[in-house]
Amino acid sequence: MTQHLAARTAADSADALDWWRDAVIYQVYPRSFADGDGDGTGDLPGIRARLPYLAQLGVDAVWLSPFYASPQADGGYDVADYRAIDPVYGTLHDADALIRDAHGLGLRVIVDVVPNHSSDRHEWFRRALAEGPGSPLRARYHFRPGKGADGELPPNDWESIFGGPAWTRCPDGEWYLHLFAPEQPDFDWEHPAVADEFRSILRFWLDMGVDGFRVDVAHGLVKAAGLPDIGGTGQLGLLGNAAMPFFDQDGVHDIYRSWRRVLEEYPGRRIAVAEAWTPTVERTANYVRPDELHQAFNFQYLGTYWDAAELRPVIDASLAAMRPVGAPATWVLSNHDVTRHTTRFANPAGLGTQLRSAGDPVRGLRRARAATLLMLALPGSAYLYQGEELGLPDVTDLPDEVRQDPAFARGAGQDGFRDGCRVPIPWTVAGSSYGFGDGGSWLPQPAGWGELSVEAQTGDPGSTLELYRAALAVRRAHAALGAGDGVEWLPAPEGVLLFRRTSGDAAFVCAANTTGAPVRITVPAGRLLLSSAAGGVSGGESGGEVDLPADTTAWWSAEAG
Ligand code: NOJ
Repeated sequence: MTQHLAARTAADSADALDWWRDAVIYQVYPRSFADGDGDGTGDLPGIRARLPYLAQLGVDAVWLSPFYASPQADGGYDVADYRAIDPVYGTLHDADALIRDAHGLGLRVIVDVVPNHSSDRHEWFRRALAEGPGSPLRARYHFRPGKGADGELPPNDWESIFGGPAWTRCPDGEWYLHLFAPEQPDFDWEHPAVADEFRSILRFWLDMGVDGFRVDVAHGLVKAAGLPDIGGTGQLGLLGNAAMPFFDQDGVHDIYRSWRRVLEEYPGRRIAVAEAWTPTVERTANYVRPDELHQAFNFQYLGTYWDAAELRPVIDASLAAMRPVGAPATWVLSNHDVTRHTTRFANPAGLGTQLRSAGDPVRGLRRARAATLLMLALPGSAYLYQGEELGLPDVTDLPDEVRQDPAFARGAGQDGFRDGCRVPIPWTVAGSSYGFGDGGSWLPQPAGWGELSVEAQTGDPGSTLELYRAALAVRRAHAALGAGDGVEWLPAPEGVLLFRRTSGDAAFVCAANTTGAPVRITVPAGRLLLSSAAGGVSGGESGGEVDLPADTTAWWSAEAG
């Protein structure tokens, strides 16, 4: 064990072992967070320099999207070498320094692992391609002969999530499977070398001191035997949740049982969170059974609009699904794959999670702030996406020529708007790329983003940044937030969610008005802690009758009920 790990183990108290159950985890998209060397792309030294900002924000952990050696065909989710840092992001030394600094600031570090597919430049794939049909290396991926008289048709009817067929033909006539871009060939997890290699990759990063993994496409690793046709159900979409022969197959769970054993070889509590798109929250719960992964993203919650009538059943179903397996529920509003929630809620309901319209930004921000306070009041763990603490909107008008989302090109401009949530973060009011770096930014930032910068919002009590700081401080100080596995719903008018949370002697009440008008509610006696409304909440300082403004969430401390 390295000195580094020994030091950390000593710091791990028994309480800290359950750190992940109510952790607030902040997602960093490395290309777009902070650029240390002025080449226009974010990097590990840039992130490292900003760690004090994250510690001060009050999050518990940082999840880093991929920084591995990669041709960047899909923003680094196309990994050429799982044990190397892409030069654009830095070096292994930088990663080590970042992990140490984070731990020194009390922040845990979670890294992405991408096991469903590699890059087409990964050594295994390059050699498999070069050696031709019959090479044993081809068995580590899904190579197949085509259909039709000359094998000119793909082996089955599966479509890529980024558009077009899920198969690409090699010059020698065989086809290979890629559920995502052609530059992302799918591994065949039936091959034991694949499973061995990934256990080794996990150990490599655990030895580096990381606290956990976010498992990319965790539901996709095992494909149904014989790779059967779907039978014309049409295009899938990234957020599709219909049963598919390449998603959520029962065999994936053996893989995660073996990963859990690897995680438990290490001191402290190392965790894994599944990116698993499944048809139901009950299927998602299978990934977090006690001998599998620790958490799974709650995409059902992410896909729910700002509407009490829709939110309450999703909250209830999420908590109910996790209870039998003893895993914490998780909550998330934004990530690097969807339109930021500020912009989703600025638009009417029913438009999905990839939008091109800015909508009504004032209303969107008001709702986003309220949605955050609601999310942070729920039991379990919450995920934040970089920039949401600044209330950043999606950049919906990026010119086509700067877009890099592979789905944009493959979908002929009909899809693939994920660049809009990946525009680099504004840190300062003025200066080159608003403090992102000295050399511009790989995606253009809108004029006026200086007003949304960290510098502009710091110290302004009405700012979204200060709202997040206050909310996270209250969450840390108040035992009833985050803890437990249930909420006690209190009677509330239509369009309002009102609930109490209790932990020991501490109790807490949350009210969320999802309507566009003020609503009078009755809140149990207690002290107003925080409200998302820019103008505050008048009349509810100690509970009782409160006029809750439109699209507002407020928190009160209360007597245990
Ligand atoms: C999910 C990741 O979040 C997304 O960005 C990526 O394109 C796909 N998985 C493929 O790795």
